[in-house]
Amino acid sequence: MRLLSLRLVLSLIFAITLVSFFSSYYQVRQEKRALRADLDRRATVLAESLAGNVDAYLEIGSIKKLRGIVERFSNRERLAGVAILNTKLEPIAESSGLVERMQTQPSSVAEAIAENQKESEFILAATGRLHVLVLPLHCNDELIGELVIVHDASYIDAQIARLWRDAFLRVVIQVLLIVLITVVIVRWSIAGPIAKAAQWMQALRNGKISTASVRFSDLDLLRPLAREMTGIAESLTAARSAAEREARLREAAESSWTADRLSVHVRSKLGSSRLFVISNREPYSHVHQGKTVQVMVPASGLVTALQPVLCACNGTWVAHGSGDADPEFVDGDDRLRVPPEEPKYTLRRVWLTRDQEQGYYYGFANEGLWPLCHVAHTRPLFRDNDWMYYQEANHKFSQALLEEMEETEDPVVLVQDYHFALLPRMIKKERPDARVAIFWHIPWPSAETFGICPWQCQLLDGLLGADLIGFQIQSHCFNFLETVDRALESRTDLEHFAVNRHGHRSVIKPFAISVDFPEPSCATKDESPYEDRVALLREYGVEALFLAVGVDRVDYTKGIRERFLAVERMLEKSPTYQGTFTLVQIAAPSRTHIKRYHDLLADLEAESERINWRFQTSKWKPIIFVKRHCSHEEISRYYRAADLCLVTSLHDGMNLVAKEFVAARYDEQGVLILSRFTGAARELLDAVLVNPYDIEHTADAIRAALEMDPEERTARMQRLRKLVKEQNIYHWAGSLIGELCGMRLDISEREAPKAASLAVAK
Ligand code: G6P
Repeated sequence: MRLLSLRLVLSLIFAITLVSFFSSYYQVRQEKRALRADLDRRATVLAESLAGNVDAYLEIGSIKKLRGIVERFSNRERLAGVAILNTKLEPIAESSGLVERMQTQPSSVAEAIAENQKESEFILAATGRLHVLVLPLHCNDELIGELVIVHDASYIDAQIARLWRDAFLRVVIQVLLIVLITVVIVRWSIAGPIAKAAQWMQALRNGKISTASVRFSDLDLLRPLAREMTGIAESLTAARSAAEREARLREAAESSWTADRLSVHVRSKLGSSRLFVISNREPYSHVHQGKTVQVMVPASGLVTALQPVLCACNGTWVAHGSGDADPEFVDGDDRLRVPPEEPKYTLRRVWLTRDQEQGYYYGFANEGLWPLCHVAHTRPLFRDNDWMYYQEANHKFSQALLEEMEETEDPVVLVQDYHFALLPRMIKKERPDARVAIFWHIPWPSAETFGICPWQCQLLDGLLGADLIGFQIQSHCFNFLETVDRALESRTDLEHFAVNRHGHRSVIKPFAISVDFPEPSCATKDESPYEDRVALLREYGVEALFLAVGVDRVDYTKGIRERFLAVERMLEKSPTYQGTFTLVQIAAPSRTHIKRYHDLLADLEAESERINWRFQTSKWKPIIFVKRHCSHEEISRYYRAADLCLVTSLHDGMNLVAKEFVAARYDEQGVLILSRFTGAARELLDAVLVNPYDIEHTADAIRAALEMDPEERTARMQRLRKLVKEQNIYHWAGSLIGELCGMRLDISEREAPKAASLAVAK
């Protein structure tokens, strides 16, 4: 860098000197010309005015008069002398000292006589530069002699020397200033950022920091370059950790799932076919924020799991375009390539009218099916209108999907969740060659409970269009089979967990959804969870020794109120924790257009305030209610800093917060308190399991978790981590897709429509 600066400075000096020298040379030359022309003009005026007097005396030969005139004029400023010569160039009259100054006769004296015209020149005499002007004298047009005017021109040389000196000084000052300014600019906006970028890249290469910790504002002009480098560094880090993971797996002879393994697995399963995913939520939405548009990624396990698969096989994801800037980012076919930073698969956006969104999403899906499937004692609402929009929206999504699949033979389709119960049948009807799976992310209730729904038969028939129906846990599969058995004419094959209906077979199977299990970066490993806890609480003006965290969408199924009541009871029963124990509840507002959800948010806020009012002191309060969406990174900090994570859902398909907390605890510390009514409770047996309706028991569990023997705490967390690491999100996607691709589609079923169309043709 130093060598570079020296070269830069020398080149600058050379360039500025050259330019300044040429511009000064030009200026000086112009000035010299102007001074000389001025002197010549003045000499001519003097000669012409003298000539009038001299002519007459010269003709009559009055030498005395001529001498008198010569002496009188020669006293003028800068005049070196005056002489009058005859035509033979012999002096008739001359001012004193002129001959000594001139030493030799200038050539212009002879030339003026020979040419009979005015001549002038500059000569260099011993005393300095002289200007000589020679004017022929006439009488009656006859040449009678010449007048010589000699000026001292040395002042012009002095003036020119002064100009050169000033120019030199100017060049030196200019060079110094420009070099100084350039060096400062280079250091400030190029050399500094380059040095920082180099340091950062070195740390990144050595795995000492993460790309997330780069502050682009520090890199100034290099920002665009830094962004590109961040992408490369991220790929490098990902490739390095994938390679490390693979090596570790080989070493341990394990067969855990990774994003890379999943990609390879899915490519080999799909062969020449293609994968299509359909969900209500899109993996990327474009949202106006002030004058800019932000790309939002939902904090969803589904995106984590399916993104690598879609990237690996150039698949297509069909979803509701819900961002207000979404229409601005699609092509004429409502498609765009994602991920935005490195496009690898297609996102097809489906547009819904306001009425359709209200009826299908808010109404039927979230006020009907959601409370129906979650036993949380919120009454489901079934409205004819909502049902109509639900059917209409399912049809709309199926049309979009069919369009996307037009060119693909034997497509593989993964339908997601309770928003699309009717879709599998709609797809299969048009494309019997498609392999269709639907994964139901939420619980499936008992047959009696599901029977409340006026359209249960249509929903079940729609679902049974799928070849594979996935649930989170085995008991949801049982409930589903029982519901089908009671509601529809079909043959249930309990031995293979399948339903045969109208010659089509649907297999029912559990696939426990999970989370990614990233290895900690060196920077994360170096963090001190305790220091971070102090910093996190300080943001809310709270000091506490013990920290618990809860992370939920604000939903009545999550048991957030019950959690607050348990905290209150624990503080009543164990006053030693007053002033020392705080629960940070991260509450992401959700589905707030629905009154039940809107009211719940206000209720929870009021409940936390009530409890805080009872116990709080100037520096402490028992509940910090964080009512906003938090980024994954922000939530991870709380996970790592907490003593406890509280998951108290009244009913939950799986609950990924429980698994995220375990995945985040690299330090093998922390206790998970988990509701026994979550799907996760079937796997995470080392959590402290609670019945959230039993406030007394949950309060005791919180205290027991805080006072758990450290060895037991570590042992439990180690076992939990082993399980989540093995049964991670890639395992979920790999098993689901593997199962679907491995299924044998009924040949007669596949060929039926072709036969039918032939019959029509006849
Ligand atoms: C549950 C559902 C998902 C849904 C998520 C968020 O986990 O199973 O399908 O995406 O809640 O709800 P939202 O209505 O905001 O998509």
